[in-house]
Amino acid sequence: MSSTARTTLIRGAVCVLPEATRPADVLLQDGRIAAIDPGPAAAAVAEDLIDAAGLHLLPGIVDTHVHFREPGAVHKEDLHSGSRAAAAGGVTTIMDMPNVTPPTTTIARLHNRLDLAAHRSCVNFGFYIGASTDNLDELRAARRTPGVKIFVGSSTGTLLVDDQDQLEAIFARVPLPLCGHLEDETTVRANAERIGGGSVPADHSRIRDEAAAVRAVERIIDLVRRHDHPFHVLHVSTAAECRLIAAARAEGLPITGEACPHHLLLDESDYERLGSRAQVNPAIKTAADRAALWDALREGTLDAVVTDHAPHSLQEKARPYPQSPSGLPCIENSLMLMLEEAAAGRCTLEQIVAWMCEGPCRVWGIPGKGRLAEGFDADLVLVDLDAVHEVRDELQHTRCRWSPWHGARLRGSVVRTLVGGRTVYDRGRFDDSVRGTEVRFQRDAAGRPDPEVLPGLPLAARALAAAD
Ligand code: DOR
Ligand code: ZN
Repeated sequence: MSSTARTTLIRGAVCVLPEATRPADVLLQDGRIAAIDPGPAAAAVAEDLIDAAGLHLLPGIVDTHVHFREPGAVHKEDLHSGSRAAAAGGVTTIMDMPNVTPPTTTIARLHNRLDLAAHRSCVNFGFYIGASTDNLDELRAARRTPGVKIFVGSSTGTLLVDDQDQLEAIFARVPLPLCGHLEDETTVRANAERIGGGSVPADHSRIRDEAAAVRAVERIIDLVRRHDHPFHVLHVSTAAECRLIAAARAEGLPITGEACPHHLLLDESDYERLGSRAQVNPAIKTAADRAALWDALREGTLDAVVTDHAPHSLQEKARPYPQSPSGLPCIENSLMLMLEEAAAGRCTLEQIVAWMCEGPCRVWGIPGKGRLAEGFDADLVLVDLDAVHEVRDELQHTRCRWSPWHGARLRGSVVRTLVGGRTVYDRGRFDDSVRGTEVRFQRDAAGRPDPEVLPGLPLAARALAAAD
């Protein structure tokens, strides 16, 4: 494998391009896509040739919701192990959440994490800054970040801002885009009390129920309406939230939303099989909620599929509920889980790219990524749609070494992942000399993410048209 971004020709892959999915040659130069179908002369200038016959080429997955645990809990994950797991899963860009120890609530800590990642991450990276009860000035001045994460309900870690005046101040005074964990704290506490705290993982869905999610989303929509401030709803888990978000968008409010594989693929019936492996915040819900999340993606009510990769060790997970921690790893499975859904006819390859590449870039205003087009970064993944693999705990690259999908046979496998034109992962082997770079953000004067980072017809529209 090469140590710098050499001129590379990827030959013969079926490419998911913005306008069509078709065979094309792709020339990479200086870390970017120099040309699609460069013509016969390209073979002469290419220093490296990748024969991709029989494979599909997609933009690298952009996972804007992960928890890599560094600093603070590196026995669960760190930037090295997490970014390798990402690369093995075809993920070329990650954005990490602030609930580490100490939490990322100051610009100094944010910049420290960026420095650390520049040395240790083999995929591209960004970090959210977390809202606390006393860091408004830090939030107002932060720039090298996709935005502010607000835990409107508490989860793993100590971050929580559920005081109305403090929320109003953030909406009124912080120019950055906002996103939030939306489970109403009062409702969660009342539910827990009502059932005596709970004793088995299935109780988690009774404590963190639909009402908890709905109340928090209603509260946020009211704030977005009055402040006209962009807000991204993290890990939507219920049909009711989708209805609220759809209505808010129809009103013209600047609200976006994401779904996670575990909410799309698991429901309450899975606790029996998975126990605390399925314990996550927001809790998994009903089969009807799952179906509604898929509909919301197809209809464009939700913009993105991201993982909320949140590793905990199996030892920690083995504690009796409710001492077992919430969260599950997913980053190295997410694309392949979705490829299996495509193989089963439940979505298309174009929708996968729309939801896992274009969607996150549009939501956060990430320029130069998420699309196979000239001038875009050479962050790429080659997949073999015919290669079946079995997900196994012991084969996972995440430091926690397990997956809620242990035992699943998936049609579709990641073959090779390139970051900035360099191969970081190739059929089970890593090039540990590859480093990702800091993600940039394109925002207007009011701080809104610029949707024109991906000009023209969104792939989601082509995906929608194909479904008709
Ligand atoms: O289940 C969860 N785990 N939800 C969160 O919001 C945080 C995450 C974690 O960091 O463990
Ligand atoms: Zn999360």
